[in-house]
Amino acid sequence: MTDSNTATYGGISRLNHWIVALCVLGMLAVGFYLEFGGLTREAKGPIMALHKATGTVLLLVILWRVVWRIRQGFPAPAPGVAGWQVLASKVTHWGLLVMMLVMPLSGVSMSLLGGRPISIYGLFTIPPVAKIEAVGEITHEVHEYGAWILAILVALHIAAAIKHLVIDKDGVLARMTTGKAIDAA
Ligand code: HEM
Ligand code: HEM
Repeated sequence: MTDSNTATYGGISRLNHWIVALCVLGMLAVGFYLEFGGLTREAKGPIMALHKATGTVLLLVILWRVVWRIRQGFPAPAPGVAGWQVLASKVTHWGLLVMMLVMPLSGVSMSLLGGRPISIYGLFTIPPVAKIEAVGEITHEVHEYGAWILAILVALHIAAAIKHLVIDKDGVLARMTTGKAIDAA
């Protein structure tokens, strides 16, 4: 089945993009709030449980979304966009795809290999696999630094989308909203 074509993104790709974009933005916001919000240990508990459960479920959605993108490929760059911008968007898109996988994967491993379970909204619990201090620490670091890398990529990505909308007025944003292709000049 083909969804995206060489000119724009198809309906499934657009739905995938916006669902995951919203969820990832929410996960970043809640994660940073947990870290820098000055919450007490008790106040953190339920928010952390929500962060872990949602992130674990999101891992499945993200896996599907990334596989779909790889199978469909990317539409050709919008006509008239400078070479360095085409390269920058390729690097950013791949960076986003990799980091949106690294974050939930490191989160799940930090818990399950650090000796802690993951409760999925209290419905069922995934038990810890092992308690390996070193792995727990490394995945924790990956999750922490990864969060900043992902946040920077998202900021660059949104800035680029705004630039295309406001300055270039070239219809790039529409490829991801209505799915309208850009007419070749
Ligand atoms: C898209 C998925 C995810 C995103 C974007 C995300 C984002 C974040 C962010 C921004 C932080 C704060 C980082 C810092 O500056 O220290 C954080 C912390 C944390 N996240 Fe996630 N997370 C995700 C998935 C998960 C999952 C699936 C789990 C576990 C099952 C998890 C467990 C944790 C824990 C335990 C912390 C606190 C770490 C600490 O004690 O410093 N996260 N997350
Ligand atoms: C307000 C927020 C956002 C806007 C306006 C936006 C806009 C866009 C647009 C216009 C494209 C198509 C670019 C092109 O045609 O070359 C795109 C692609 C993409 N965006 Fe976003 N985006 C947003 C948030 C996000 C977030 C939070 C993520 C990551 C979690 C993300 C990940 C991607 C990826 C990986 C692509 C490449 C195509 C795909 O696989 O979906 N976007 N975005």
